[in-house]
Amino acid sequence: MSGHLARARSERGDVVLLRRAGDGALELRVNGVFVMDTAHTGTERLLATASLDLALPGRTGGRVLVGGLGLGFTLLEVLADPRVGSAHVVELEGALVDWHRRGLVPGTAEALADGRVRTSVGDVAEVLAAEPEGELDVLLLDVDNGPGHLVHDRNAALYRAEFLELCAARLAPGGTAAIWSAAEAPDLAEALAAAFGDCALTSVPVVLGRTETSYHLYTARRAG
Ligand SMILES: C[S@@+](CC[C@H](N)C(=O)[O-])C[C@H]1O[C@@H](n2cnc3c(N)ncnc32)[C@H](O)[C@@H]1O
Repeated sequence: MSGHLARARSERGDVVLLRRAGDGALELRVNGVFVMDTAHTGTERLLATASLDLALPGRTGGRVLVGGLGLGFTLLEVLADPRVGSAHVVELEGALVDWHRRGLVPGTAEALADGRVRTSVGDVAEVLAAEPEGELDVLLLDVDNGPGHLVHDRNAALYRAEFLELCAARLAPGGTAAIWSAAEAPDLAEALAAAFGDCALTSVPVVLGRTETSYHLYTARRAG
């Protein structure tokens, strides 16, 4: 049987952190929807490492924004990179941030206490809109299971032209935005290409139990 480690109620529904019985992995669910676990973390980590390599060759003091804390794997990779000078983490569910700070997820309390980290509780669209223009080097978005599998309907706007243009405007020249998706998302690729002038897709094979599938990373770079 699965064991609930923490549960909170937000305006979007129940937020639950549980330990699975079968494999002992931690799992995060929001409103009954699977959001993240500790069993398959490779693409969430690649989201960070691939983008940092693209945006920060030979650099120090890189400025990163991570949209969606989840179980913290993307953030941990960001902080492991010595080229990163600051990381702004934006997470919608305040209770989840508290659980990390209380040590319910291994390793992340230290990450959130890292002197380079600033944490905002809120919608990444609103937080990013309030940021200054042209001052980010890397923008990492992993807030749903992709545009075809939204955790919240309101997040649909995060994959459309207006928000992607805002992302491009918040990046410095040469800065990189990357978006995680469980399924291929041609509309997202088109919208990113329109907003940035380019878009690259990296598809990574993943084995989920007996199922072979792929997860997808969409990356776009601001000219500079
Ligand atoms: C798939 S998880 C992120 C996984 C993360 N990359 C990791 O390494 O564990 C998605 C996270 O985004 C949060 N989220 C969903 N919509 C959001 C939004 N509009 N703004 C900020 N965070 C959001 C969810 O609460 C959840 O914690």
